[in-house]
Amino acid sequence: MNANLKRFLVQTSAGRLLLVPVRMHSALRYFQPSVGKAIRWSFVSREIANYTYDLTETNLSYLAHTVSVVTGVNPVTVGCYLGELMADESLKRHVLRLTASSTMKHCSDPVFRVGRRAGWYAFVRTLKPRLVVETGVERGHGALVLCSALMKNKSEGYEGRYVGTDIDPNAGFLFTSPYRECGEILYGDSIESLKNLNDIDLFINDSDHSADYEYNEYLTVTDKLTPSAVILGDNAHVSDSLRRFSEKHGRHFLFFQEKPKQHWYPGAGIGISYLGPS
Ligand SMILES: C[S@@+](CC[C@H](N)C(=O)[O-])C[C@H]1O[C@@H](n2cnc3c(N)ncnc32)[C@H](O)[C@@H]1O
Repeated sequence: MNANLKRFLVQTSAGRLLLVPVRMHSALRYFQPSVGKAIRWSFVSREIANYTYDLTETNLSYLAHTVSVVTGVNPVTVGCYLGELMADESLKRHVLRLTASSTMKHCSDPVFRVGRRAGWYAFVRTLKPRLVVETGVERGHGALVLCSALMKNKSEGYEGRYVGTDIDPNAGFLFTSPYRECGEILYGDSIESLKNLNDIDLFINDSDHSADYEYNEYLTVTDKLTPSAVILGDNAHVSDSLRRFSEKHGRHFLFFQEKPKQHWYPGAGIGISYLGPS
């Protein structure tokens, strides 16, 4: 651009006014694809919350590196665990069968898409936890992914159990056999249920998403964690509860930002609290 013209546009009131539509176009073009996807999704999807989608390939590779940083396991190995989940035809068939037949099908799409829960899977495969606790089960996507990882661990000689909590007595319609044999859902208020648990190796917060409730869950499990336990927070894209808890308890904190593939949702993430090398 000619230097005089550029000076006019950026240094004078009239020039800045002329630039408004240009600048607006530059900013809005980042959102335009999502608007198109949102309109289409509004017609074709049945979901009303807790949306399902895949992650982009690049995002999955970043996820493998994130899990590697926390666990010390080679990112190539973590990547293989992620690939193992994506290729799990039995799990896929299980989700498709239940979403097609259940009364919950009215708010579920008949697809197998686990988003950031792939990271939860990779943590179970790398850490080989003996007790995994997930607060907030909802339909049971997390429960399935976690139990599927526990089943793979078991086939390699590592026993592990899953406990989910949910205040909704109808939660967990996807959590049926064979995955249900890995654990159970405790129905009722999550914090009350957590009081009865001990020796948690992997704790995942995904229930009441108010920042205070989330923090209280962490406080409730503080003395119930095994020494090297990892905590994952599903609310860290909106609340800093896990970061604050980690700082107060001398734990490291990381945040992984998920990037949904071909979906309007900008993505949530995984807050990760762990006791790495000091
Ligand atoms: C975001 S969903 C969980 C999603 C699930 N983890 C998954 O992977 O799809 C939140 C769930 O938390 C449950 N919930 C909300 N408040 C709760 C509480 N105080 N105690 C237990 N569960 C609660 C809701 O009933 C809902 O099913």
